Amino acid sequence: MQYLSDDPVRLNTDGTAILAADQRLLPRRTETITLRTAGDVAGAIKTLAVRGAPCIGICAAYGVYISANAHAKEMPELFMQHLRDDAAVIEAARPTAVNLSWAVQRMMKCAAAHAAEPPAGIAAALRSEAERIHTEDIEICRSIAENGLTLLHDGASVITHCNAGALATSRLGTGLGPLLLGASRGMTFHAFVDETRPLLQGARLTAYELHRAGIDTTLMCDNMAAYRMAQGGIDACMVGCDRVAANGDTANKIGTLGLAVLAKHFGVPFYVFCPSPTIDRNCRTGADIRIEQREGSEITALHFAQPVAPEGIRCLNPAFDVTPAALITAIITETGIHRPPYDF
Ligand code: MRU
Repeated sequence: MQYLSDDPVRLNTDGTAILAADQRLLPRRTETITLRTAGDVAGAIKTLAVRGAPCIGICAAYGVYISANAHAKEMPELFMQHLRDDAAVIEAARPTAVNLSWAVQRMMKCAAAHAAEPPAGIAAALRSEAERIHTEDIEICRSIAENGLTLLHDGASVITHCNAGALATSRLGTGLGPLLLGASRGMTFHAFVDETRPLLQGARLTAYELHRAGIDTTLMCDNMAAYRMAQGGIDACMVGCDRVAANGDTANKIGTLGLAVLAKHFGVPFYVFCPSPTIDRNCRTGADIRIEQREGSEITALHFAQPVAPEGIRCLNPAFDVTPAALITAIITETGIHRPPYDF
């Protein structure tokens, strides 16, 4: 249970580096990677060693701090220049989860507020700020889980997509929070887990977390959700999110939109679990959300013993899609259960 009791991202004991569970290897291998520079942090986020919107934000915040710590003996001007450069490297790692830029900008605001202090003082303030972001996420996840649990009855059957659990956040997660919290109180659930092509966060991470928590879990390919919903008895779909626009349009892992369309067709409530840092009021609608495009080799080769498609085939590999607010039954945040029309 190593990665479910520990946070997926934390500082090492002397505060000079980040220790992160390497989520690319789970569940076959549980390994920790050490991130010492802004380049290491950006690389871990780009390659999804560190993933999930809130977890990316926490890692980015610690990344800004470890940069400050590494440069703390420099003259103030050079220190600030290095800090700004490193913050920009981290912020550019992935475009869709707003938690990344939100965390980096919050850290740089903190640095600006302490600008009159020597570099070591600014670094100390940044460490406290990163720890605050981390602690706040733990509290937010707990409240989301409590709020979400009110929507489920004992014995409920749900479908989930991607991974919005402890590995994507700290502790309880968002989309999986109600299940994990309810299970810890003796409730029973049946979770149907979309494998989540192409990077298999459902099969590798969500199935791992739910199974280890003792929740009755069934893995299925993404294209089996319609079949399962048509059979009846599904009480809810539960997903996390990477960026929610002011009108409630929601970017989440590719395939979420398809699941929401199915849920509407079959009359299944579709719930989005959203920490408030994932709401981007600068995006009026989902059309303003930038969708990350990734390498085609993730589709054709990455998780296969040998490449499965013709060599040189063109691939479309958006990492996220946008579910229109009209398909979302409720957005559950730490403050409560929000229902349409959404106006964040
Ligand atoms: O590409 P990933 O694995 O970082 O995508 C993650 C998701 O889409 C999650 O559903 C989302 O970040 C919510 S995590 C609480």
